[in-house]
Amino acid sequence: MALHIIDHPLVQHKLSIMRDKATSTMKFRELLQEIAMLMGYEITRDFPLTYEDIETPLMPMRAPKIAGKKVVIVPILRAGLGMVEGLTRLMPSARIGHIGLYRDEETCNPVFYYYKMPAGKERLVLLTDPMLATGGSACDAIARLKADGYAHIRLVCLVASPQGVAKVQELHPDVDIYLASLDEGLNEKNYILPGLGDAGDRIFGTK
Ligand code: PRP
Ligand code: URA
Repeated sequence: MALHIIDHPLVQHKLSIMRDKATSTMKFRELLQEIAMLMGYEITRDFPLTYEDIETPLMPMRAPKIAGKKVVIVPILRAGLGMVEGLTRLMPSARIGHIGLYRDEETCNPVFYYYKMPAGKERLVLLTDPMLATGGSACDAIARLKADGYAHIRLVCLVASPQGVAKVQELHPDVDIYLASLDEGLNEKNYILPGLGDAGDRIFGTK
């Protein structure tokens, strides 16, 4: 499936401010939600429309409305939480699930600790995590969602490495990936370069 890189100037400008190590926690959080909302505009571009009869103050018309696309936004804890508010502003009736995973500091392998989803396996899942580094966390989260019966999943990240994208495309070719930037690669500790550092720490002010 497709890799979508959202290169809108507003997204790119805000991302550059986020990358700057001098940017405060407060500003970082604010920008992440703003970018998530802007990305949401592109992520929902193919949502089908239906037509309903309404009356404007001047005349009746057949008016386009979203055709009941049911969405569940699923942040990968912790950092994925930073994108939820931006997306729910666009889709206020979306449900929210949670997947808890952290990367083991030594091995960089994902460690699972929490899974909670609302009812409705037919829903389109928007799986959020700002960072797609080795791809281990995203692939585990997608595998868990699929094992639970979800068939329609889109992965929404801010910054990715080529290795992370390749891993998701290899293990989950049916999942569309949405990014604000495809970065250069990973360092020896599997941090994205140039990246923006540890997203969770920058969102929550831990460290
Ligand atoms: C970060 C990030 C992703 C993961 C990406 O989470 O938010 O979930 O690492 O790395 P990967 O692609 O190599 O798996 P982290 O483990 O730091 O947890 P946190 O969000 O709780 O800080
Ligand atoms: N997790 C992060 O928060 N940042 C990275 O660069 C890699 C993994």
